[in-house]
Amino acid sequence: MQDESGQKQGHRIVLGVGGGIAAYKACHVVRDLKEAGDDVRVIPTESALKFVGAATFEALSGHPVSTTVFDAVDEVQHVRLGQEADLIVIAPATADLLARLAGGRADDLLTASVLVATCPVLIVPAMHTEMWFNPATRRNVEILRGYGYTVMEPAHGRLTGKDTGPGRLPEPEQIADLARTLAAGFTVPHSWAGLNVLISAGGTQEPIDPVRFIGNRSSGRQGFALAEIAAQRGASVTLVAGDTAQLPTPPGAKVIRVRSTGEMKEAMDDRAAGADVIIMAAAVADFRPQTAAATKMKKGSESAAGLTSIEMIENPDILAGLVQSRRDGELQRATTIVGFAAETGDERTSALEYAKAKLARKGCDLLMANDVSGDAVFGKLRNRGWLLSADGTVAEVRDGTKLDVAAQILAAVDAHRTRSLPN
Ligand code: CTP
Repeated sequence: MQDESGQKQGHRIVLGVGGGIAAYKACHVVRDLKEAGDDVRVIPTESALKFVGAATFEALSGHPVSTTVFDAVDEVQHVRLGQEADLIVIAPATADLLARLAGGRADDLLTASVLVATCPVLIVPAMHTEMWFNPATRRNVEILRGYGYTVMEPAHGRLTGKDTGPGRLPEPEQIADLARTLAAGFTVPHSWAGLNVLISAGGTQEPIDPVRFIGNRSSGRQGFALAEIAAQRGASVTLVAGDTAQLPTPPGAKVIRVRSTGEMKEAMDDRAAGADVIIMAAAVADFRPQTAAATKMKKGSESAAGLTSIEMIENPDILAGLVQSRRDGELQRATTIVGFAAETGDERTSALEYAKAKLARKGCDLLMANDVSGDAVFGKLRNRGWLLSADGTVAEVRDGTKLDVAAQILAAVDAHRTRSLPN
C-alpha cells in the first residue's frame, strides 16, 4: 500500500525486546507502529519475558512470540523473519544485548534474525549511565554503528533507581517516529561527531503585561525534529526553544527555554561563535509591544487603554544578525547558516519566488521554504517544501513526517559542508 506521496505504507517491522526494566515501554512502541499500519513481529530475548509476558506481546502484535530458533523450525523462522523485515527495531537494547550483537552472536531468535537481515536496523539502548559510558559499551556502540546500524541516543532522565542521567529509553513515540523515518528509506549517518549544532524552535512570545503576550501558531515540531536528527548524527546539539507544544526533549540534545525575541537572540548570539551549523527554525515575531506593563492591565482602569491600541516596534532580525556576525568574522567562516520561510503566494508572485527573494535578503546558505496557504503546516505532523541554496539551486523536500523532513534538510546541510569546506 502507498500513501498519496507514493511512499510505501504498512512496513514489516521486527521489534526485538531486550531484558531490561524498560521492556514494558516496548508495548507502546508496538501499539504506535501498529496504529500507523505497520505489521509488527515481536522477538523478545528470554530475559525480556521476565519483565513482560509473551501473551502481552502476542495480543498487541497479533502474532505468536518466540525467543528461540528451535520454535517453528519447519518454517525456518530464524532466517525468514529477518529476511522478510523492512526494518528491525530493538528497544530496549541492554548492554549485554549490544555486546552480543556487536560480537555477531546468533544464540537466540533475535540475534539470529539480525544476522540475516539486510534491512535497516535501529537499536535503542537503555541502561544505567555507568554502563552506557563504560568503555566496553562505548566500543560495542561504535562497532554497531560501523556495521551501518542506527544506534539511537538514550534520553537523559530518571533511571530505574533514584538516579538520573543519560541511559533512559526515549519515549515510545520518538522510537516509533525514528523507526518510520528509517523504514521510509531515509538514512541518519553518524558522521557529525565533534560538530556543534545550534537550532532555534517554536514561536516567540512578546509580553504585553505579566499575563498577556503576542504569540504565534508555531508548534516547534520541525525544530525539535531537526535537533533529534542532528543528535542522532552524532553532533553536540543545543536547542533554543521558545513557545512550543508539549514535546519530549530530543534524546541527546540540550534544551534552553526562552520566551521573547530578545531572549532568543541573546541565547543564539551567545552560542553562535562555537557553532558549525546554525538553523533558525523558530517563528520569530517581527514586532513587539513598545512597552510591557509591569502590572496586569485591568479592564475599566486607565491602563486598559493599552489593550485597545498597542504601540509596536520592530524586533531585531536574529538570522540576518547571525549572517552579519559571520561576515564580521565573529563566527567561524565555515559555519553553515540555515533559515526557514513559511510563505503564501498571491496573484502576482508564487510562494517559491517570495522564498528566493528572502534567501537573498537574509544572506543565509540554505533556506527551507514551504507554502503555508490552506493551513498546511502549522501544528501539523507532516511537512514538505523546497530547499533553496545560495548558489541558486532549488531541491524539492519530499512530503513526510517532520523527522523525514529534518533528515532531508540535514543531508543537504552535510552536502553543503562537503562542497564548501576545504579538504
Ligand atoms: N527570523 C529571525 N528574526 C526575525 C524574524 C525572522 O531570525 N525577527 C528568521 C526566522 O527564524 C526564519 C527566517 O528569519 O528562519 C525567515 O522568517 P520570516 O518570518 O519568514 O521572515 P521575515 O523577515 O519576517 O519576512 P516576512 O516579511 O515574510 O515576514
